[in-house]
Amino acid sequence: MSPTKDAAWSGQVEVFAYRRLAEPYHSLTIVAPDICARAAPGQFIAVRTPDDRSLLLRRPFSIHRVDRRPGWAGTVDIVFDIRGRGTEVLARARQHTSLDVLGPLGRPFRFPKEQTNCLLVGGGIGAAPLLFLAEELRGHGHRVDYILGGRTSEHLLRPIEAKRASLTVSFTTDDGSSGTQGVVTDILEERVRATKARVVYTCGPVPMLRAVARECARLKLPCQVAWEEVMACGFGACLVCAVPVRLERGAGNDEGWGWARCCTEGPVFSASRIHWERVEDAPAGVTT
Ligand code: FES
Repeated sequence: MSPTKDAAWSGQVEVFAYRRLAEPYHSLTIVAPDICARAAPGQFIAVRTPDDRSLLLRRPFSIHRVDRRPGWAGTVDIVFDIRGRGTEVLARARQHTSLDVLGPLGRPFRFPKEQTNCLLVGGGIGAAPLLFLAEELRGHGHRVDYILGGRTSEHLLRPIEAKRASLTVSFTTDDGSSGTQGVVTDILEERVRATKARVVYTCGPVPMLRAVARECARLKLPCQVAWEEVMACGFGACLVCAVPVRLERGAGNDEGWGWARCCTEGPVFSASRIHWERVEDAPAGVTT
């Protein structure tokens, strides 16, 4: 591997293991010691398969987990569901498949300076960065509690691992097949009070992020969101990943907002920085 932008590295890596998780989800563990050593929760890697030239652009994937065990080569896990040609090809990768990878990219979650109770809120496959975050927060002495949501119990991402990485986990499903029937914000206030959380970290679909951000603003809780956006270059050159954000008067347009590049200024943003009125619920083109 060779150094590229800032702390990111690029090169060919090998798949160590492929796993089929619950019905909609796939997982790949790749051997990438340089990325593993530098990665922080909330960052992402960009991946393509060198053998399939139909995929010219790398696809972005949140770092789900890293393994830095001493004596271990250093691995990085990604999880995904099939949304398009890129993930269809990746789901066929098996042990020893070569992948072309760039990372880690983007700005990670910020950690509390003092010991703090942290509530992690994730929806569907969007919850991918939370496991890495939970493990690192606990390693720094913070209490971690989870809310995991999904359409059905099958869509809850890694519920057993979430239980292992936190003190409590609460589930919500649209159909009531696991936990509370409803959405994550139906139980957010109760879980904040029960866990005495002082900060919320969230990732998932945009309508969920918007609802969590609104609820945190009402409860006067700081909230960080990991944004999922269509990306091309992954390091700030192409401008396809723009997210509407509030800016100081005079810094953006007359209405006090502008665009931030998700790949370099995100994917983690303070929820209060996002200009939610300008955000569309389903960004076009997220078909990794
Ligand atoms: Fe190219 Fe963000 S993906 S600028």
